[in-house]
Amino acid sequence: MSVHKSDVKKITTHQLQNMKERGEKISMLTAYDFSMATILDAAGTDVLLVGDSASNVMAGHETTLPITLDQMIYHASSVVRGVSRAFVVVDMPFGSYQGNSSEALRSAIRIMKESGAHGIKLEGGAEIKESVTRILSAGVPVMGHLGLTPQSIYKFGTYTVRAKEEAEAQKLVDDAQLLQELGCFAIVLEKIPSELAKRVAETLTIPIIGIGAGPHVDGQVLVVHDMLGINKEFKPRFLRRYADLHTIMTDAVTNYIKDVKSLDFPNEKEAY
Ligand code: KIV
Repeated sequence: MSVHKSDVKKITTHQLQNMKERGEKISMLTAYDFSMATILDAAGTDVLLVGDSASNVMAGHETTLPITLDQMIYHASSVVRGVSRAFVVVDMPFGSYQGNSSEALRSAIRIMKESGAHGIKLEGGAEIKESVTRILSAGVPVMGHLGLTPQSIYKFGTYTVRAKEEAEAQKLVDDAQLLQELGCFAIVLEKIPSELAKRVAETLTIPIIGIGAGPHVDGQVLVVHDMLGINKEFKPRFLRRYADLHTIMTDAVTNYIKDVKSLDFPNEKEAY
């Protein structure tokens, strides 16, 4: 029996909060298109993030900076159409919220209206306080993102672990506290020491989702192309590969080419 969309209990910010309170870990993966979103949702992933990592894995850019608001909305609306249960969060792309809070609000409203997503994510703390406040005041759920924030890669200079020094660690703790006080429903912590992530997750009452932030947080997120082994070159220590789709896909395509060249495909049963 097929499951009608309205029969499925949808994940909400309220449920994510309850999961933190009862100690159930939150699963989150990136998704950028309809077909992948359908698989991840049916498997039971709690949160799908339409990450601006689409700039890297879908478009082949070196950084997340080039992706545009229109492109994020295109990816997000494709993902939303594939989802029955998961909570869909969309990254606000570089340049769509840092300038001023009116522009941030306009960008967030476009994402929500045009894609049908359930919330947005943006990078930074005190620097983007006004933007976070304006977006929240419009009733849009906001997820924060601290630690390694890839939109600031040219400021950091490298993708190494952040907040190892006390000053940066203290700023991260203060920023996390501020984001919670403003009303964010969750925060992603990327590539920071495990002990620091633990301190934040234990101090804050909202869910803390880690990527390269160790096990003592309320949930985990990975880029789906990395965890499925589609992308072979990216091998950070925090990544666990659950499949080797690169090899599986290469073998399948090699066999297809062989069959076409040798006239084995299509056979009589595969023709009309
Ligand atoms: O864009 C993205 O994929 C992200 C995750 C790494 C958290 O922000």
